[in-house]
Amino acid sequence: MLLQLSTWPEVEAYLRRSTAIILPIGSTEQHGPNGVIGIDALAADGISRAVGERTDTLVGPTIAVGMAQHHMGFAGSMTLRPSTLMAVVRDSVVSLAKHGFTRFYFINGHGGNTATVTAAFSEIYAETSLGTPGNATPIRCRLRNWWTTPAIGQLSRELFGHAEGHHATPSEVALTQYLHPEAVRTLTMTPAVAPMGDDFADAADFRRQFPDGRIGSNPGLATPELGKRIFEVTVNDLSRDFERFAAAAA
Ligand code: NI
Repeated sequence: MLLQLSTWPEVEAYLRRSTAIILPIGSTEQHGPNGVIGIDALAADGISRAVGERTDTLVGPTIAVGMAQHHMGFAGSMTLRPSTLMAVVRDSVVSLAKHGFTRFYFINGHGGNTATVTAAFSEIYAETSLGTPGNATPIRCRLRNWWTTPAIGQLSRELFGHAEGHHATPSEVALTQYLHPEAVRTLTMTPAVAPMGDDFADAADFRRQFPDGRIGSNPGLATPELGKRIFEVTVNDLSRDFERFAAAAA
């Protein structure tokens, strides 16, 4: 059930049985030589739709541009400043809270969003903690990275070993190939496994360290068939996690 394909009377009726909503959040950024620019947003969107169907929950519009300043050295990448993304997250949550939503489950496709989105949650909670008049609704937000559930970690290691890496991973490329067959690109990676690292600063620094955009990965191992397995495991894990979150008392 998608918010964008619902009418306002349907949303009113939904709110009488649930005040939870799933919000996909991703990024629009380079994903190495064979990964399409939209991977993080497309993965979050596809997984969220499936979790929404599985749990009979409304799914909001995908926040498709994230905090990706370090990818700006590669054509096609877009970024919001951290302060802009915090405002987008806060205003999105507060808009929906005004109508009665209280549980906000963000399914995230981009590790670079984590610190900023978590800070935005703290801003939202600060309003009730500080007793801002008119903001007494008990809002709860949760951010889940689709690739960090225990079962996905195990499956990625089993399928790709050390070639999973940190960015433009075979897991995310495969999952997107499964969801969008037109995203498949077949080419040879040189070197097969990209240089590893987790200490980078701005876009120029990132490109100097990771010349083709990958970090420690070999996305040449991705196939749509493996992507289907990854998709099914993550949808299972996140559906269970979402149900616990939605059922918890305020
Ligand atoms: Ni990604």
